[in-house]
Amino acid sequence: MKKTSLTGIKPTGTPHLGNYLGAIRPALELSKNYDTVYFIADYHALTTVQNGAQMRENIYKVAATWLALGLNPEEGLFYKQSDIPEIFELSWALSCFTPKGFMNRAHAYKDKVAKNMANGEDPDANVNMGLYGYPCLMNADILMFKADIVPVGKDQKQHVEFARDIAIRFNKHFGKEVFTVPEPVIQESTDVIPGLDGRKMSKSYDNIIDIFLESKALKKKLGKIVTNSQGIEEPKDPDSCNVFKLYKLFATPEQTDALAARYRAGGMGWGHAKAELQNVLEEQLGPAREKYFHLLNHTEEIDKILAYGKEKARIRSKEMMDIVRETLGTF
Ligand code: ADP
Ligand code: TRP
Repeated sequence: MKKTSLTGIKPTGTPHLGNYLGAIRPALELSKNYDTVYFIADYHALTTVQNGAQMRENIYKVAATWLALGLNPEEGLFYKQSDIPEIFELSWALSCFTPKGFMNRAHAYKDKVAKNMANGEDPDANVNMGLYGYPCLMNADILMFKADIVPVGKDQKQHVEFARDIAIRFNKHFGKEVFTVPEPVIQESTDVIPGLDGRKMSKSYDNIIDIFLESKALKKKLGKIVTNSQGIEEPKDPDSCNVFKLYKLFATPEQTDALAARYRAGGMGWGHAKAELQNVLEEQLGPAREKYFHLLNHTEEIDKILAYGKEKARIRSKEMMDIVRETLGTF
């Protein structure tokens, strides 16, 4: 029997190359050897996205991104988190086995508190219970569908470790293997994708490159990648260059070596390097881009796929909740 790979993406904005390289591409590669459970984590996004129209648009964008990049909804599971009520029931049950201290240590909450304190504000200013309890919902996401592995970016490793810990505690407490103990999978080569300014690419830093941009918009965006002020003739160091860092994540090893040689030889300006990056991006993402915009213009197709995914996923989530309720004695 195949093992299960599970991951979720929050609909918090337009998916970017950091999401693609750090989460979506590795997850899709795993679908060759694993059963997949990939979903849209809309109730996780609710901790920050609190505008209905915006949420709906973001959900369609994330769904269209997965589908355009090759996720096959016939294989495995593909659904919207909020369509599976059993996840919320499990989230509560698991929260009763989760030490409060875990939540205090959860990095998103801890970072927020540290920032508040640095600004001389109340430590819990603007912290809603959704943000505080975020890892509990994530535990339910992961344990519901018996994930063996969870491909995520480095920043999510701690959350997956919480899920591991809770699965082990729960199983031990009841003396049976109710939950599969999951493992995070982090691809080292893509653990931190740099954004336009060289910091981690993130919506919150306003330094993202969208996965799907029309050629002209893409050119404009790539023009904003920060480089140093070396002139065209000067030999350049590829490894410290943000353009090159992105390039090598899309190029073949031969292309990468060839461009590195051009950097070192001198005579190549930043505009040339950015044009090379544009070429590989167009080559690899161009066909998916058409599908993406088609889906966004035909959201009824997305609705259908998600409705199908919901039905398929709920067969499994209901089964799992029956086992959990029996274990807890709540039926
Ligand atoms: P953002 O920081 O833009 O809000 P998310 O937190 O929604 O992005 O990330 C969604 C997924 O993409 C997660 O698995 C996360 O680890 C991964 N990811 C996001 N940004 C990057 C990045 N710059 N490098 C590698 N992975 C990333
Ligand atoms: N918290 C993840 C993020 O911020 C999204 C997510 C929600 C997730 N549930 C998950 C990822 C379960 C993996 C497994 O990116």
